[in-house]
Amino acid sequence: MKLSLETRDLARARADMLVVGRHAGEARLSPALQALDGALDGLLSRVLAAETFDGKAGQSSHVYTNGRLAAPRVLVVGLGPKKEASAEAVRRAAAHGARRARDLGAVSAAMFLPGEGVPARQRAQAVAEGAILGTYRFDKYLKEKDGKALGAVAVVEPDRRQQALAREGVRLGEIWAQATCAARDLVNEPANVVTPTYLAGRAEEIARAGRLKVRVLERDDCATLGMGAFVGVARGSQEPPKFIHLTYAPRGRARKRVALIGKGITFDSGGLDLKTADGMLRMKDDMSGAAAVLAVFQALPRLRLPLEVHGLIAATENMPSGTAQRPGDIVRAMNGLTVEIGNTDAEGRLTLADALAYAAKEIEPDEMIDMATLTGAVVMALGLGLSGVLGSQDAITERVLAAADAAGERMWRLPLHEEYKDGLKSDVADLNNISSQRGGGAIVAALFMREFTGGIPWVHLDIAGTAFTEKELPLGPKGGTGVAVRTLLTYLMRLAGKR
Ligand code: BES
Ligand code: MN
Ligand code: ZN
Repeated sequence: MKLSLETRDLARARADMLVVGRHAGEARLSPALQALDGALDGLLSRVLAAETFDGKAGQSSHVYTNGRLAAPRVLVVGLGPKKEASAEAVRRAAAHGARRARDLGAVSAAMFLPGEGVPARQRAQAVAEGAILGTYRFDKYLKEKDGKALGAVAVVEPDRRQQALAREGVRLGEIWAQATCAARDLVNEPANVVTPTYLAGRAEEIARAGRLKVRVLERDDCATLGMGAFVGVARGSQEPPKFIHLTYAPRGRARKRVALIGKGITFDSGGLDLKTADGMLRMKDDMSGAAAVLAVFQALPRLRLPLEVHGLIAATENMPSGTAQRPGDIVRAMNGLTVEIGNTDAEGRLTLADALAYAAKEIEPDEMIDMATLTGAVVMALGLGLSGVLGSQDAITERVLAAADAAGERMWRLPLHEEYKDGLKSDVADLNNISSQRGGGAIVAALFMREFTGGIPWVHLDIAGTAFTEKELPLGPKGGTGVAVRTLLTYLMRLAGKR
């Protein structure tokens, strides 16, 4: 999809479909809609009245302009109540409007969605994101594709004083959304395609395109470095594991050094502690954290932030076989801690333990953030609409939550409750990878991982409930959601001192 800024007013904006927002519960049309209605001799207000269109989110109506406007059709979309106006309401209206315009056969759209009180940059960014995310599809394996496609979207900003901000918003929105779609693609690809080798290949492509540094460590390299926890998980699989290390370095001095770590289990069968058929069904999505990291590195070169950013992915399958790790095995992680394998299905924390220990030792970042489809327990705690956030320090945790809020991704903090650490005791090793106590599984997993952070400020996002959706959402279809990408980009931009 081609994105641009349309600086002409609504009557003169040229596109197959002019998409205009309307807030709910307003007796009168907005001045912008009134002007259009006037040019159309009141057709717009008659149609809206006849269809009892009142501007609720998800509502839309369209009329034909019969040569009275530059655009042949106008689609009015609901923005929801004015007092609940937000960038997210604009984003959702844009997604709905773009989808509807496409389904009505439009190839180009000009969108004017003035969320009350939302600043121009954020508004334009939200429209760009909504249009791209809302029309995302993963149909490469279908013989019969829906041929309709919205090829171009222009964000309308007729106010000259706002156009520089709006232009920046369109640029960022395009980067944010394209990165999110790249993550969705990686998650939607099946596990027979997305292997650890495939992820390493993608990392190398991303590095080449963005002139980034990339290092891929093979199994033996990882063993030599002492990553016994990661290598142990990989033992059962025929696919060779890959430890991926991407680096973005700014031209000038870096303000901060950050490590982003993504869980990269390309398929989680559970290992010898085999999952049930139902439990295994969607475990191709167990590399969603890795997908988010790769997507961020795809976007970083276009942002030129004064940050040094490292991306780490310990990629492997978790499979049962004659060579697989057994329950009861003891492994040694890179920071020297020994771990008794209480359950081979708690593999994510083992691979992340070595990635965190590697970061702490080899990179010494100022802070680190990991993204992982880590526990079924976070789904019990927070459901499918919220990612869990656990952090070793309040300041960085609050900053991640604020970035999520600004990006429109829903997240909720869970406590690293110290007393639950007792459950991770082992009689024969420094730690067990599962708890002997009931409940609080998302917290327990995070407490386990904290042991490998070397005291570096760290935030963990448990995206097990949010990385994949079984029902269509306002911003995208069933499948991978690309969660955490927009939050991370927003977080990094703020860390670099930009709004
Ligand atoms: N990848 C799973 C977590 C998961 C569950 C993600 C459901 C998405 C949906 C993880 O590796 C896992 O198997 N966790 C176990 C841990 C348990 C054995 C302590 C779980 O949550 O059941
Ligand atoms: Mn598992
Ligand atoms: Zn897993």
